[in-house]
Amino acid sequence: MTIIAPSILSMDFSDTRSQIADLERSAAKWMHFDVMDGHFVPNLTFGPDILKAMRRSCSLLMDVHVMIEDPLRYADVFLNAGADIYTFHYEAISLQMAIELAQKIRAAGKKAGISIKPKTSPDVLFSILKEFDLVLVMSVEPGFGGQQFDPGALEKIERLKEERQKQGLEFLIEVDGGINQKTGHQCVKAGADVLVAGSYIFKQDLIEGVASLL
Ligand code: DX5
Ligand code: ZN
Repeated sequence: MTIIAPSILSMDFSDTRSQIADLERSAAKWMHFDVMDGHFVPNLTFGPDILKAMRRSCSLLMDVHVMIEDPLRYADVFLNAGADIYTFHYEAISLQMAIELAQKIRAAGKKAGISIKPKTSPDVLFSILKEFDLVLVMSVEPGFGGQQFDPGALEKIERLKEERQKQGLEFLIEVDGGINQKTGHQCVKAGADVLVAGSYIFKQDLIEGVASLL
């Protein structure tokens, strides 16, 4: 069963309570929480205090995607603030640091995720896949919601699925950016386990929007 992770980047922040209630009633199992630092990407979003508040007011699993230059430095604060999954970018750190960070996340009893931008090949992750519970394929340049899906993500999902089987691993394949009913279906067909969707879901009735992706 596909996991739907609504991205709160597209939430109407003048009324979070009713949207969280709708998401909890919907078929969504995760909440996708985008952290941006204005350096790794040209935009700023939320920090650990907002995550803590979301954690308190929402029963969904907190899928934290950090688009930040120094994911190692902030891992503890986000894990302590309630991240269930901490996904950082391959492009932000060295391979050795990525392994160390994944081990630290897992040692804290949380799930470790690694993400690649549209121009990064999934092959660069093959030697470290066993350290991760999730691989996040970006299907837009990270930084903003509401962009158009890059179909190049489909081949990456297929390659990761193939490699997962080859190595006998169990990480989840997640895709993020430009997901709607059509592109979501294409991603699931290619092998995605988790669909992140922001503007598509929050532009309509949330419960119906989530259901339409299944
Ligand atoms: C983009 C973020 C996404 C974003 C997706 O950098 O990582 O999670 O919210 O938004 P949509 O679904 O609108 O493309
Ligand atoms: Zn994201």
